[in-house]
Amino acid sequence: MIKVGLIGLGYMGGTHAAAYGQLLQKLNFRVTAVADLDQSKADKTAAQFGAAAYYSGDELLKRGDVNVVDICLPTYLHYEYAEKAIGKGLHVFVEKPLCLNSDEAKKLTGYAKQKKVYAQVGQCIRFWDEYEYLKKVYDNKEFGKVLHAKFRRLSPRPTWGWQNWLMDEKKSGGAMLDLHVHDADYMLYLFGKPKKMKAFPNVSGEKWSSVTACCDYGDFSVILEGSWDYPSSFPFEMSYIAAFERATVIFSSNHGVKVCPAGGEAYTPAIQKACAASSGVTGGNISDLGGYYNELYYFLDCLSKKKKPARAPLSAGTEAVKFVEKEKK
Ligand SMILES: NC(=O)c1ccc[n+]([C@@H]2O[C@H](COP(=O)([O-])OP(=O)(O)OC[C@H]3O[C@@H](n4cnc5c(N)ncnc54)[C@H](O)[C@@H]3O)[C@@H](O)[C@H]2O)c1
Repeated sequence: MIKVGLIGLGYMGGTHAAAYGQLLQKLNFRVTAVADLDQSKADKTAAQFGAAAYYSGDELLKRGDVNVVDICLPTYLHYEYAEKAIGKGLHVFVEKPLCLNSDEAKKLTGYAKQKKVYAQVGQCIRFWDEYEYLKKVYDNKEFGKVLHAKFRRLSPRPTWGWQNWLMDEKKSGGAMLDLHVHDADYMLYLFGKPKKMKAFPNVSGEKWSSVTACCDYGDFSVILEGSWDYPSSFPFEMSYIAAFERATVIFSSNHGVKVCPAGGEAYTPAIQKACAASSGVTGGNISDLGGYYNELYYFLDCLSKKKKPARAPLSAGTEAVKFVEKEKK
């Protein structure tokens, strides 16, 4: 039996808890332990699953009856807790970005391999239905060759974090590592590493709070844009435009996907959503459970089949962190 311990019950831990709630109807696993420094959060989530409540990640790792740990702690704590969990031979799911820097990320990747535990990083855009659609049409060459693409992620400042850790770039890496890493990872997943890259980060004021990067793939180019330099009234948006020879595919989290063919009318492609439920968690950027549900479904399904999860390995989490480090340089 898969026994999950969930550490950190803030915005993302709450979202994962909601996804587990949905997944219980589909897969054979239990959430047996949850932990947060905030006792009321731990007690409330524990009651939802009939799980044991712990009031720190360490306590859960010491006493929890678990064989998998899902780490939804602030980024600067990922390495410490993932390393401890792997050291105990537990399988791990680690939220993105994998670690605060690529040295830690590389060490963690090697350690999981050495201890032969299954591990996945929460690069959830790989599992987001509308981004899976783009990957499918790109891989199948449905609209011919890609000509150019743009990936954007724009957000108000994330003020929900515990002790405001997100706004401390030494703890979160700023918008470039926390927010923009999603598009950096997705671009690497889709196209591999670019031949050349030039990034224009914002280094004044709120350091690393925005970036525009131009990536040269030889016969096509990609622009990445990420920023949380926007006021609280600004609506979060993730979006892409991918121009192919025979059609341009556009997506915005505010308007959905459209295909604009070279000849003819734009249309909405049929995209099957595995989970259309909302997390019910307020305060963060996204309440759609889609990609979170899909990534955890995949991870737990692999564990139950004793199959190594390969769609978002820690090595990919490391590459994404490395890419952001390069952009910052
Ligand atoms: N995949 C995504 O789309 C996505 C979205 C948001 C956040 N994240 C990532 O998820 C992680 C968590 O972010 P968040 O927004 O949920 O942060 P948050 O501040 O909302 O939540 C963090 C929680 O951790 C708890 N905590 C801190 N130290 C602890 C400890 N030692 N033991 C137990 N609990 C402890 C805090 O009490 C808090 O409830 C970050 O790495 C972030 O980058 C990913």
